[in-house]
Amino acid sequence: MATTYTDRKLSVRYPTDLPAWKKLAAHYRDDMRDKTLRALFARDKKREEKFSLQSGDLILDYSKNHLAATTRKLLLQLARQADVPAAIEAMFNGDKINKTENRSVLHVALRSKIADTVALETPGVAEVWEVLTQMESFVEQVHGGKIKGSTGKKLTDIVNIGIGGSDLGPVMASRALRSYWKDGMRFHSVSNIDGSQLDDLQRELNPETTLFVVCSKTFTTLETMTNANAARAWIVDQFDELAVQYHFVAASTNHAAMDDFGIRSDFRFGFWDWVGGRYSLWSAVGLSLALVVGMDAFRAILSGGRRMDLHFRQSPLDENMPVLLALIGIWYNNFFGAQSQAILPYDNRLDRFPAYLQQLQMESSGKSVRMDGKPVRCDTGMIIWGEAGNNAQHSFYQLLHQGTRLVPVDFLLPGTSGLSTANCLAQAEALMDGTGNADVEPYRVHEGNRPSNTIHYDQMTPEVLGQLIALYEHKVFVEGVIWGIDSFDQWGVELGKKLANAKLDL
Ligand code: F6P
Repeated sequence: MATTYTDRKLSVRYPTDLPAWKKLAAHYRDDMRDKTLRALFARDKKREEKFSLQSGDLILDYSKNHLAATTRKLLLQLARQADVPAAIEAMFNGDKINKTENRSVLHVALRSKIADTVALETPGVAEVWEVLTQMESFVEQVHGGKIKGSTGKKLTDIVNIGIGGSDLGPVMASRALRSYWKDGMRFHSVSNIDGSQLDDLQRELNPETTLFVVCSKTFTTLETMTNANAARAWIVDQFDELAVQYHFVAASTNHAAMDDFGIRSDFRFGFWDWVGGRYSLWSAVGLSLALVVGMDAFRAILSGGRRMDLHFRQSPLDENMPVLLALIGIWYNNFFGAQSQAILPYDNRLDRFPAYLQQLQMESSGKSVRMDGKPVRCDTGMIIWGEAGNNAQHSFYQLLHQGTRLVPVDFLLPGTSGLSTANCLAQAEALMDGTGNADVEPYRVHEGNRPSNTIHYDQMTPEVLGQLIALYEHKVFVEGVIWGIDSFDQWGVELGKKLANAKLDL
């Protein structure tokens, strides 16, 4: 049997044993620890140009980081020594890189074209386009009024019921693409278990025009099933049992459970075990979103994701945006000892993007055991947090500017608002340059020297959103490859679920 990427002797690949890691440790200590960002800019007038990179509609300016050309060279060596290129190919080939669950990891197949030949032999991949066509036909029939509610009214209010990856993606993307909502269509969501979200919606919505999209890969998640059953009871109470077939559709892999719930067979949208929850927006989990923004916009998100995939798969490491973002993350995390990273979009449409990235990064990289079962020997995922830019300025920026902790920042900046641009660039500059005289008014001193990336894009479109999401997905993957962890399992959330079920006697 052929040796796959994950079968190789991981034990020799502790990143801390790699020559590049050792060189980076020395380089940090001898050259970079005490060098200021101001000094790096002063000695190189073309720094911004040299430390910027474009991929599709995104421009990454990573000049305001504690990086010299040597740092970048050593970080790229680290990526090579950790076999990042082979890992990228392994993912696109459909190798079972999610080792602890013995699964391929193929969210990239969901946005691929057949010509990209992404793991076409993997069971399920050939069905991707069929499900998209099924989604398209469903969305068009809802919009055209052919699929109606039980009393014959047009379905206009779409309620996504899900949690984690079955909630955060549709919620984040529907907000990001608010200007693409079809006339008369509205998006709502229910995720938490305390019943309050559904309660509020029941007061606000007309059941005759409401369509619930139950999103759950497993169709067993306690929160989702509790909410779905409560919504079902509401519909039955308003109409009758038969109405369930008009007001509920589902995205799931569990057909038996959908049978029990009463989801019509043609109102089920499947996906596959190689789609992880936090990577599932690209699948039928995006149905509620597609119902609101339309299938053209949904396909444009996929096309943006694919654009980033092609870049990730084909670009050399030194021109590869996700790889560079990952290496910068490793540099702060493992050498500077940063414990958290802030995601700060200067685009209110992206107000839930930090929450989305929280799951993506912390569920993927919150691991302390390597793929071979041995403990890691270095820190892994950082704590991810953030908020839309100006709101955050008036909330927690104080700590970013004058606190004792190093918090590397990713700013996300559209080109559409002069006010946002001015604010974002001013903050990046203030973090880097600082100001003040400690002898006169020490409390006013901004020490500066605080790093940030800025990701520029022209305006928030479905294509741009797809590129942004895929950028961070691949960033997380590369970091995981270097640490030798399985970025695609989430055993850490299972224990709490089990204990809660036991307490509830389920
Ligand atoms: O609890 C974590 C988790 O397993 C996530 O990974 C997932 O996104 C979420 O639960 C929801 O799972 P499901 O789609 O099966 O309801």
